[in-house]
Amino acid sequence: MKRDTHSISIIGLGYVGLCTAATFASRGIGTIGIDIDHERVQQIRKGKAPLHEPQLDDMLKTAVKNKLLDATTDFSGATDTNTTFLTVGTPSGRDGSIDLSFLKQATIDLGRALRKKHGYHLVVVKSTVIPGTPTNIVNPILEDFTKTKVGPSLGLCANPEFLKEGTAINDALHPDKIVIGASDKKSADRLTGLCKRFYRGKLPPLIITNPESAELVKYASNAFLATKISFINTIANIAQQTPGVDVGTVAKAIGLDARIGELFLKAGPGYGGSCFHKDLQALINYSKKNGYNPVLFQATEETNEKQATRIVDMAEKLLGSLSDKKVAVLGLAFKKDTDDIREAASFRVIGQLRKKGAQVIAYDPMAIPNAKKVLSDQIDYANNPRSTIKGADCAVIMTEWEQLRKLKPKDFRSYMKTPNIVDARRIYDPEDFRELNYVAVGLGQRNPTGPQQVSRVP
Ligand code: UGA
Repeated sequence: MKRDTHSISIIGLGYVGLCTAATFASRGIGTIGIDIDHERVQQIRKGKAPLHEPQLDDMLKTAVKNKLLDATTDFSGATDTNTTFLTVGTPSGRDGSIDLSFLKQATIDLGRALRKKHGYHLVVVKSTVIPGTPTNIVNPILEDFTKTKVGPSLGLCANPEFLKEGTAINDALHPDKIVIGASDKKSADRLTGLCKRFYRGKLPPLIITNPESAELVKYASNAFLATKISFINTIANIAQQTPGVDVGTVAKAIGLDARIGELFLKAGPGYGGSCFHKDLQALINYSKKNGYNPVLFQATEETNEKQATRIVDMAEKLLGSLSDKKVAVLGLAFKKDTDDIREAASFRVIGQLRKKGAQVIAYDPMAIPNAKKVLSDQIDYANNPRSTIKGADCAVIMTEWEQLRKLKPKDFRSYMKTPNIVDARRIYDPEDFRELNYVAVGLGQRNPTGPQQVSRVP
């Protein structure tokens, strides 16, 4: 690996770790990725991404070819670098509380390795962790295993990550902000120096604070975004009861108020993904343990869970009964351009459809292999959108894939048994579908089978 005054190691080559590693290497900073998964490490060493993320494969290939990125299962690799980022997973425990076992083990392994290192080393917690974790959990483990006190020779920072799947590389290269929660000035200066090197002097807004505040920034961001989605889904459900009203118009208008903002106001089947539900549960659990029940976030989660029932109700209203009806589910991934199905709303909807006796056939351009690992033969799978809707009694749009936008009203009319469509992602223009049995989240109708009358934004 090429040496630089800034060389880094990253422990945990999952989504965040790998994208972070690739972007550091792309900026000429020597990077060592460390993971306990031997197969994953071998794949990365060949410059192949073990997960789907636009641009990641190309970046890894270039980084490996330029000898700026290496991967290993050996934690002593960290001693060849100045800074180690901890990016291991922090899943939910049974009660929703955060499970820190991977973080604790990674810190132990890192601490053992660093014991043999001479010179200053900075440890950065990038995994999403509840406030207090770096100070109360990581710090004592590190001190114990390195036999060094956090201070002049050993630095510790929290540095939460805000990247989104599907745009992770771009988000990492052009973040809105960098948040550094430092245990002391030396740690803060070291990490700021690394950021300056990374952003070549054009540093994004930088917030330097204590580790606890930095961790709460991460949870507050995800809690706010999730709440914004549950808010617009609530408005969508109200709009849907009111003939002629379209939540899209309402969202556009309220979004023009700078205090509200236009982003994350897309009504749909409810949020999914590996973060929002997990992080809200961890935050609720953490807060309750400290004696405060954050009812707002409970409502955010409950609203999200119930949104799947709304979608199934819409299908049921169109069909009368779902028993023995063939329902085509278009889209399985939690959002477009990913094969990730974690907490995807499609699974909540499929579960309810099956409970009501529907026969489900699903299509997704990327996520079918992952879906099969969970659902196996409980549902049928199709290779393309048209064969999915063939002979179906109802089609439910669950992910906003471009491939699905290409389906025309005539496709639904000619392929389906009856053209009943539930557009849970609002990918179609209701005007185009006015002759079909088209219902959509947040679209108020005169009657479910009649023509649409929609207020429009000029
Ligand atoms: C989310 C946050 O957006 C990132 O900032 C954060 O770093 C990340 O979690 C994390 O904690 O690791 P991500 O889960 O990749 O990122 O996906 P989002 O783009 O935020 O979408 C989450 C869900 O909300 C998706 O199911 C999406 O379809 C849904 N969504 C999003 C809506 O239903 N409406 C919207 O307007 C926006």
